[in-house]
Amino acid sequence: MAQPPVATQTVEATPRVHELLQRLHAQSEAQEKSLSQTWFYLTRLASYFIWGTDWSSASDDHMRDKFVSLEEDKCQFMYLLARSIGARNIVEAGTSFGVSTIYLALAVGQNVADAKAITGKPVTGKVVGTEKEPTKVVKAREHWKQAGDEVEPWIEVREGDLRETLKVEEGMPDEIDMLLLDIWTPLALPALEIIKPRLRRGAIVLADNTGRAKPLYKDLLAYIHDPKNGFKTTTTPYSGGLEMAIYLPSA
Ligand SMILES: C[S@@+](CC[C@H](N)C(=O)[O-])C[C@H]1O[C@@H](n2cnc3c(N)ncnc32)[C@H](O)[C@@H]1O
Repeated sequence: MAQPPVATQTVEATPRVHELLQRLHAQSEAQEKSLSQTWFYLTRLASYFIWGTDWSSASDDHMRDKFVSLEEDKCQFMYLLARSIGARNIVEAGTSFGVSTIYLALAVGQNVADAKAITGKPVTGKVVGTEKEPTKVVKAREHWKQAGDEVEPWIEVREGDLRETLKVEEGMPDEIDMLLLDIWTPLALPALEIIKPRLRRGAIVLADNTGRAKPLYKDLLAYIHDPKNGFKTTTTPYSGGLEMAIYLPSA
């Protein structure tokens, strides 16, 4: 008997959402495989080593119409982690066109439903997304609308620079179960530092590309490797490396 596609075995979602995700991942992958994108990444790394510049407004201009979505296998892994720890409050640093957000919202919606069924009490949850490009926010909202009720109601997106928007207390859950750092590398540590006081014990922090972009992540890696900051961490062997850190401060 033919096996169903891996995505449908891993991620619980209607066929409509699976089809949407397949389409969005394919668009993102096509952009990432293009010569111009490869050239962009190479020149960025070179300018870091030669001039010490990590990011520029020209980089922002280049990236404005790019998905740069977290790859499908990493998204599936992230979804499983979120389901495993019953994450109901998740922050996403870097939302772009909202692809990874769809996985996080599926997990949150399903975890909320489970918690309600088990406790018989009202339970809430949300994904707080962040995106500084207004045109990307519009597109992301379109995608979540297409995904429908399994996804859209669980997302609050904060438009603007996350160094400001994540500090807004209103609507921010007191306890965060998971933080995805899928953001330009100089912003990864600032985002973590803002959210850290809200991380619950055992919260998971994921950061993309920490192997391939290791020099650009030196601040973040130094921080999470310093035992006094309370993280246990490993670089999982997904493409480019996906950092998985668990917040376990000493009791
Ligand atoms: C790698 S992409 C996120 C991809 C997304 N997580 C996904 O898998 O679909 C990073 C995003 O962060 C956004 N970004 C960059 N600087 C930002 C800032 N200061 N505040 C909020 N968002 C920012 C970029 O515009 C870009 O869309």
